[in-house]
Amino acid sequence: MTPTTDAITELTIIQPDDWHIHLRDDKALATTVPHAAASFNRAICMPNLVPPVKTTDEALAYRQRILHHLQASDVSTERKAAFDPRMTLYMTNETSAHDIEVAAKSGIVQAVKLYPAGATTNSADGVTDINACVGIFEAMERYNLPLLLHGEVTHDHVDIFDREKRFLEEVLAQIIAKFPSLKIVMEHITTSDAADFILSQGNQVAATITPQHLMFNRNHLLLGGIKPHFYCLPILKREKHQKVLLDVATSGNPKFFLGTDSAPHATDQKENACGCAGCYSASIALPLYATAFDSVGKIDKLEGFTSRFGAQFYGLPVNETTVTLINQPMQVPADYPYFDNSKLTPLMAGEYLPWSIKS
Ligand code: DOR
Ligand code: ZN
Repeated sequence: MTPTTDAITELTIIQPDDWHIHLRDDKALATTVPHAAASFNRAICMPNLVPPVKTTDEALAYRQRILHHLQASDVSTERKAAFDPRMTLYMTNETSAHDIEVAAKSGIVQAVKLYPAGATTNSADGVTDINACVGIFEAMERYNLPLLLHGEVTHDHVDIFDREKRFLEEVLAQIIAKFPSLKIVMEHITTSDAADFILSQGNQVAATITPQHLMFNRNHLLLGGIKPHFYCLPILKREKHQKVLLDVATSGNPKFFLGTDSAPHATDQKENACGCAGCYSASIALPLYATAFDSVGKIDKLEGFTSRFGAQFYGLPVNETTVTLINQPMQVPADYPYFDNSKLTPLMAGEYLPWSIKS
């Protein structure tokens, strides 16, 4: 991959938003919230806590815990004022139309997240029968509350590398056919199949893409020894998929926008005989995305992806502040202190990235 935009060494962009992030809860927030707030204004906070965030009241309480940790942190006054956690509800078989109405009118619940039961971390309470969710989808369509999807089928017999592709035809196409004006985000897409599917749909269907799926493929995860910090779900796919994701992310098409899926797990839970799924990227997300875009000579397309298209999809104004990225290397920290004396290892720990945030 040869950079062709070497003329651009400094880039000022509208302050980005993260449309998909896991901050976790309680003591973990002391680490994750300052990292997110340093780079992002809006952040759509995933609800897969233990127990999950199922109601608007729970979402409000979770938002207060996040804001409490923000205020207690050493983030600048300016960034504290700018950070705006937007909440999600965790859909279960029991979610009601009334829950949706309350959420839509709350002003702080931005969307509803559907995890097929068993698909990923803390998804055990997720939906077991999507056909039974008709009433929930109807209410979401009526109240214009977007549906965020973890798009993988979960049947034991389906190969882990095929689970996203199977979800497109078996689940997503059916939802779109029945609810044509429901706003849908297929989160963290990983395949050319998903990219093509999103391109074939109307503007109400969009996708987020993580930094790891733009920068890496399954060889990075498995060649020369298993690398637990590259393990996330949906799992990294073949290089040909990575290339298509880079193509669509850097194409300027507003259907694709930033969602880090930054998903913290303590280092000992990742470097483990049964390692947890999730890559931690919030602290270095902007240098990672800049590096990915520059690798294909498309740094000029970064701002749309990081700072315009997500806001446009959610019907929110773009941010008024800016951030400057500079083509100067930074070393990713080996780890960060995490709660109860544990550590948190970021994606690309200890390595150098060619882009950094100008202080
Ligand atoms: O790798 C992942 N980690 N994928 C998800 O969908 C969930 C996330 C987490 O919460 O750790
Ligand atoms: Zn996620």
